[in-house]
Parts: sequence; structure tokens; C-alpha cells
Amino acid sequence: MTNNQILKNTNAKILDEFNASIMFDKNLYAQDIKGSIAHSKMLALQGIITAEEQSQIEVGLNTIKQMIDEGNFVFDISSEDIHMAIESKLIELIGDVGKKVHTARSRNDQVATDFRLYVQEHTILLRDKLKVLVSVLVDIASKHSDTLMPGMTHLQHAQPINFGYHMLSYCAMFKRDFDRFEDAFKRNNYCPLGSAALAGTPHNIDRYTTSDLLGFYAPTLNAQDSVSDRDFALDLLYNISIAMMHISRLSEELILWSSYEFKFVSMSDEYATTSSIMPQKKNPDVPELLRGKTGRVYGNLIGLLTVMKGLPLAYNKDTQEDKEGVFDSVKTLDISLEILTDVMRTLVIHPENMLKACKVGHLSATDLADYMVTNLNLPFREAYYITKQAVAKANELGKDISELSIEELRSSCDELKNIDEEVLTYLDLRNSMNSRKSYGGTSTQSTLEIIEVFREWCFSF
Ligand code: ARG
Repeated sequence: MTNNQILKNTNAKILDEFNASIMFDKNLYAQDIKGSIAHSKMLALQGIITAEEQSQIEVGLNTIKQMIDEGNFVFDISSEDIHMAIESKLIELIGDVGKKVHTARSRNDQVATDFRLYVQEHTILLRDKLKVLVSVLVDIASKHSDTLMPGMTHLQHAQPINFGYHMLSYCAMFKRDFDRFEDAFKRNNYCPLGSAALAGTPHNIDRYTTSDLLGFYAPTLNAQDSVSDRDFALDLLYNISIAMMHISRLSEELILWSSYEFKFVSMSDEYATTSSIMPQKKNPDVPELLRGKTGRVYGNLIGLLTVMKGLPLAYNKDTQEDKEGVFDSVKTLDISLEILTDVMRTLVIHPENMLKACKVGHLSATDLADYMVTNLNLPFREAYYITKQAVAKANELGKDISELSIEELRSSCDELKNIDEEVLTYLDLRNSMNSRKSYGGTSTQSTLEIIEVFREWCFSF
């Protein structure tokens, strides 16, 4: 062989590899076979192929499915993609009848259908795992609706809350994520099959039949759009990104809370690792990874948005780039939800440390101001400045405002010198938390009320 021939052969091989998607779209084999069986049934019902031909095709496709399921199928880039691989195997198995399966269809609507089936199936799977996580968080919440912890803004102590209430904040986030997956499922539940290459087909097909057979709500409305857009996949990538963002926020808190500075929680040993050099270390690797993996999921979303932004109608090969990021994001959220759910299920909570943390930072200072507004009829801004003086006094004494005696409080400024002793009950941390009874507020009473709302939701359908 001359050098030129070698170069040519090498180039051909590189190009085949470059063009092929089989090494990743083999992931869609089950959806491809399901789609082809539905398509063949419709062709038979419409008299485009015979019932006998359809049955041969179906048997052949099921054999291929079994081969792939059992790992007895060789994927080879000479087939380019999963659609070609299955079609050629079908022809090899059942002969010329196999060549009829592609009547009134193109790989363009075939891939759009397979991928949409994949996206829809995984939308439901991920949605349901979110509900499991919420139910674990609700369980924690119901055990800790009276466990005081410092509520923060700007990561600074703000007002006393309870740990159950804090968990309910995440329940609310993950429930919205659930709803987002649900909305996307409904929006995208339309069948592209029968769109053919871009313009529909002259064959007398019935798209409602294939749509029904594949479990979609109805056929899509425009063939050209159906083979070319991938917004259904972007919906999934966006929904996964938001869910990962919420997972990352909870992970960040777990990392903070398990530090010596907080010590609010301990994670089960299996979710922490030691350092190779510092023998005393217990590192929160798992929540760190959950936080870190959020980055790749955002990358997949931006990646596909960028692939799609300049595409003229209709199908373009660029869209072959839609799959790997989606597979990766699905896998990442799937495993992240499994792991986070278990981290939370096994989490050890330290209420005593949370309580200790409540005693610094004057969490009940707002309650003193509110007391003066309600009981002394002072405008809030005035009460605010008087409270500042009480805080200064507490700092001077090295105490928290909730620990001041009535004499100490009275001596903090002229305006407080005759204040009634009952004010101390307002400065009590637990009373402060329990005073916030507004709907969705932190009091134990409101927390228990909302726990019921989530519980009902968890047990619905
Ligand atoms: N492997 C291709 C993809 O994933 C399948 C569709 C190819 N269609 C075509 N006309 N080249 O997008």
C-alpha cells in the first residue's frame, strides 16, 4: 500500500467514526424497536403491508430486542446509527420483508420519535424520584417541627426557626421541580412518527394509530417542525438543571452544617471519606460531588441550546449532537436523587448544637421591636432604634438578647426603663419562633399544617 492509500483509508475510518452515532444512540434501541413495531402495525392496519408481513417484522424486531437485552448484539460503526443497525439486522433475520418496515418513514422522524419516547420515559422516572426525596424530607420535618435553629439571611443569624420548617423549604423546591417535569411531559406528549423526512408522506398512513400505540396524546401538528426541533429535550435539560441547582443548595448546607463551625448534622460514614494525609479528617465528598455535578448538567443545557440556535428548517445532522448531553444529565440527576435521598434518610441531626447556635446573634431582637409596636403603640422605625440599644447592652454584657434579665433590659436605654416584665416572654427564642403563625411561617403550628399539605401530596396518585 502506498502512503497515500494508507492516508485515504485512515481518513475514511476517521470520517466513519465522526459521522456515526451508534456508540451512543444504541442507548435508544428499546425505543427504536417499540417505534418500529407500532409503525408496522399501523402499516398493516392501513393495508400498506399485509398482516403476515407485519407479524414477521414484529417477531424479528422482538428477537433483536432480546439479543441486545442479553448483550448478544454487536454494535459496529459500519451501521452508522441504531436505526440502520436494527434495520439491517432485521433484513438479515427475516429477509426482504424486513425492507418494508421503512415504508412511509424516514430516519428523521424515526430518531425524533425514539428520542422523544426516551425523554418522556425519563421525565416520569425522574419526576417520581423527586417525590420519594420529598417524602423523606417530610419525615424529617415532622420529627423536628420543634427543633430550634437559627434562620439566616446573608448567612448571618436572623430569626429563630425550626429545623422541620427548614426542610419544608426544600420540599417546596423539589415539589416545584416535580411539577415542572409533569408540565413538560404534558407539553411534549405528541408523536412525531409519520412526519417522514420533512414534509409528510404520500402513503395512506394513520398517525393517530401510531400515536395511540406509542402512548402519546396525539400526533404532532407539523412534520417539518417535528423532525427538526429539540425543545422537548431542552425542557428536560432545563428541568434537570433546576433540580440539580436545588440539590446543590441543599448539599452546600449539608457541607456547612457538618463542619466544626456548625455541627448541626453528621452524615453517615459511608457518605464521607478520609484524607490521605490528615488522619482526623471526615470530608463531605458526596454532597461536594452533588454540588460539583451541577456544573456538567448546566453545560449540557447550554450545549444543546447552542447546537440548535442557528439551524435552518428542517432536519440537520447537527441535531445528532442532542443525545449524549441528555443521557449524561438524566444519569446524573437519577443517581444524585438516589444518593441524596439516602444521605437525608440516614442523616443524624444535632438539635443541641442548633439550640446553642440560636443563643448567639440576638435572633429575637425583632420580637422586642414588634412588642413595642403592638403594646406601646410605637412606630416600627422608632422601636427599631430602641432595640438597637438593647442589642448594644447585651453585647456589652456578653449575652444574647434572649438572656437579658428585666433589669438589664430596662437599663439599656431610657425608653425601656419602665418596660413590663412580660416582654421577656417575647424575647424567648421558642416563643419567638412560635409567634410566626402566619400561613407558611415557621411556628410549629404552621409547620405542622404545611407538613400535612406535603404528606397529602406525597400520597396522592
Ligand atoms: N443518527 C441521526 C441522528 O441522530 C439519525 C438521523 C439521520 N438522518 C439523516 N437524514 N441523516 O440525528
